[in-house]
Amino acid sequence: MNQPGRGAGYILGHSDGELLRLEQQAEIFRAETEDVLQRAGLQSGMRVLDIGCGVGDVALAAAAIVGSDGEVVGVDNAGSALFMARARAAEAGVAWTDFVEADIHEFEPTGAFDALVGRFILMHLPDPSEALRRLTRFLRPGGVVAFIEMDIEQAGAFPDLPLLDRCVDWIASTYRKVGVEPNMGARLYPTFRAAGLDPAMHGSCKIENGPDSITYEFAAETLRTLIPAMEEHGIATEIEVGVDILADRLRQKAVGGDHCIFFPRIVGAWATTAT
Ligand SMILES: C[S@@+](CC[C@H](N)C(=O)[O-])C[C@H]1O[C@@H](n2cnc3c(N)ncnc32)[C@H](O)[C@@H]1O
Repeated sequence: MNQPGRGAGYILGHSDGELLRLEQQAEIFRAETEDVLQRAGLQSGMRVLDIGCGVGDVALAAAAIVGSDGEVVGVDNAGSALFMARARAAEAGVAWTDFVEADIHEFEPTGAFDALVGRFILMHLPDPSEALRRLTRFLRPGGVVAFIEMDIEQAGAFPDLPLLDRCVDWIASTYRKVGVEPNMGARLYPTFRAAGLDPAMHGSCKIENGPDSITYEFAAETLRTLIPAMEEHGIATEIEVGVDILADRLRQKAVGGDHCIFFPRIVGAWATTAT
């Protein structure tokens, strides 16, 4: 079983399905991510470190801002995710990216960075403030620190949709059981403060409705990847979740009852280190 923390696995694994789910997630959160990177002050020519880069979405967004005069180094401990990140960077013709396989807690870069960024990574770390403290040492004075996390339990529907509430509860309960923080967005403030940073913050929430919404597949695919952990911790069985028909059930109920769906709240926090 995956346990979060130093040297341990990533709770959602890196199956082909999960790598595709990460890309789907990137599409959902692309605008918010670009917005936070811009607000944080990423600029042309900067050298950026993206921790827990996964399949490279944040690294690619940062690379578009820093341009070919800059550089983006993505770090992840999952070789399969990095393989995909490298392929995507090559396909996009973004040669100023480098993807390094390492644990965040042990990564030692060569040369200083202008910015440290990450998305949906602090939630997986046993001590996110300590990780920030360590990683900000790799920044030049006045360097940018920008992170994006979510508050999973803010997701839901209006009018209330009990099946969606159950999905959110299954996901949040499983995360908690394995030590992953489901509401890291709200915790960005104390995390930055404990790392000696004074953040500005912004939150946003995607709201969708109708039969074509990506919500239903996204919820079902997230749960599919969590089923082994859910079963191991006695949260729900594959049969209870009914994962193969879950997306259709959610769609039918949401459309039938004319519900609008609120995605998890996305929170960005950014700061600069002392000059
Ligand atoms: C939810 S994914 C986010 C990926 C990417 N930042 C994004 O937003 O699409 C979390 C990533 O962090 C990586 N990860 C988790 N713990 C790590 C650690 N201790 N060291 C390096 N990477 C880690 C996982 O392998 C996974 O790819």
